[in-house]
Amino acid sequence: MTTPANESAAPRSERDRVIVFDTTMRDGEQSPGASMSLEEKIELAKILEEMRVDVIEAGFPIASNGDFEAVREVSKIVTESTIAGLCRANLVDIDRCAEAIRHAKRGRIHIVIATSPLHIKHKLQMEPEDVLEAITRSVSHARNLCDDIEWSAEDATRSEPEFLRRAIEAAIRAGARTINLPDTVGYTYPSEYAALFQDMIATVEGADEVVFSTHCHNDLGLAVANSLAGIQGGARQVECAINGLGERAGNAALEEIVMALKVRADRLLYFTSVEPQHITRASRYVSAITGFPVQFNKAIVGKNAFAHESGIHQDGMLKNRETYEIMTPESVGQAASSLVMGKHSGSHAFRAKLKELGYELGQNALKDAFVRFKDLADKKKHVFDDDIIALVDDALASGADRIQVKNLRVIAGTEGPQEAFLTVTIDGEEKSANATGDGPVDAVFNAIHKVAPHEAILRLFQVHAVTEGTDAQAQVSVRLEEDGRIATGQAADTDTLTASAKAYVNALNNLMARKEKSAPNAIASGF
Ligand code: KIV
Ligand code: ZN
Repeated sequence: MTTPANESAAPRSERDRVIVFDTTMRDGEQSPGASMSLEEKIELAKILEEMRVDVIEAGFPIASNGDFEAVREVSKIVTESTIAGLCRANLVDIDRCAEAIRHAKRGRIHIVIATSPLHIKHKLQMEPEDVLEAITRSVSHARNLCDDIEWSAEDATRSEPEFLRRAIEAAIRAGARTINLPDTVGYTYPSEYAALFQDMIATVEGADEVVFSTHCHNDLGLAVANSLAGIQGGARQVECAINGLGERAGNAALEEIVMALKVRADRLLYFTSVEPQHITRASRYVSAITGFPVQFNKAIVGKNAFAHESGIHQDGMLKNRETYEIMTPESVGQAASSLVMGKHSGSHAFRAKLKELGYELGQNALKDAFVRFKDLADKKKHVFDDDIIALVDDALASGADRIQVKNLRVIAGTEGPQEAFLTVTIDGEEKSANATGDGPVDAVFNAIHKVAPHEAILRLFQVHAVTEGTDAQAQVSVRLEEDGRIATGQAADTDTLTASAKAYVNALNNLMARKEKSAPNAIASGF
């Protein structure tokens, strides 16, 4: 039977250990709009390391100076997890990656080249034999620079098995230690993917010297199921991302794989080193920095994942939690709240509450968050955990912004035109403007255009209430695009228009930061 007790079922043997490879910062960041700053990547790397993720893929170093810097800086601060950088199967990419991971205590070069007929013919425009040669050349070169080489057969699930076998053998002969068989386009289904691993492991020469790895995209909603099937087929590394972030429909969600292996340890006889009590914090952090909200009914980390609304369920829960809970919220870091916050709460209680919610802030950030909390508590009768999370994430997202919203007044209502009066500081200098618009939000955004002229196009404007009640904070996400660059901003406030202005300005700041970081050698993120 599946019960919370299974969460602590003992692992079988070292052979059943599954290496968890997190690619939130690489594949995850490749999803349109999910950009992360260097500081955010460093913070995320710390959380992942604390969570005991085995491998952190920190970026694609040749893609831009920003990616290179992220891999290099993460390599410097992480000591327990292996740091991987992605590269294509060419010497320039590999040298750049080797340079980026130079300071890593444990570094990995991850080389990818496509093996499917479709990709070889149309994307690479190469002959299959040339692909095999490129594998041998690139992996051998990388092996001279680093001991830990992973080789990926892009679009493995649509590759011809015989060619895939030859490609894997070439990679193993040249010195690859991990062989990744990605379902790049989310096309496979569980039994087919399991059979692919069984077949390759049984027939490839040298298969027993390497670790096979899954990497599943979620185009058909099968990424986690396929990853688990891949493990059952013999894979012992699983590539995944927090909140399932990734190209298109995303990657397999780390939290779902880890908890599936834990909760169903009775049937899935494998284990990981991940400490799941950090999952909620990691999920909230990734959502805050990317501006990608976590859907309410998302497994493990959704707001409703442990909520019981119907009378029958609540009654069952009161009698015995196991009636409707296969794992506890505490096991994934959703603490049962012990501290109720309000306007009389002091800084010690506030710090304790932040700790309970998984935040460890530095002295200045803590002071700043406490001032914001007091302001909020003056406006709102009940300050819920979600309010505090929104408030802290908001502060973390906008702390270093060059443009800051100082003051906003808006005239709205049935009699147009709606008008916004806005004051911002840009690098400390005050600027004001007023503008009308087709509705109050349009007026606010037009005023921002006046104080900070820019060409960016609004791609997303999204509002949701953080908690219930008419005094709930509004959490606003804004996505902007300019010249193919996309940036997201987020803000929360009890005033929806203020939150909108702050979110827009935050996105604009992120866009400027991205522009500054773009290197002359920046390439499109594809490979
Ligand atoms: O989806 C994919 O094929 C990838 C590779 C780089 C592993 O992301
Ligand atoms: Zn991928």
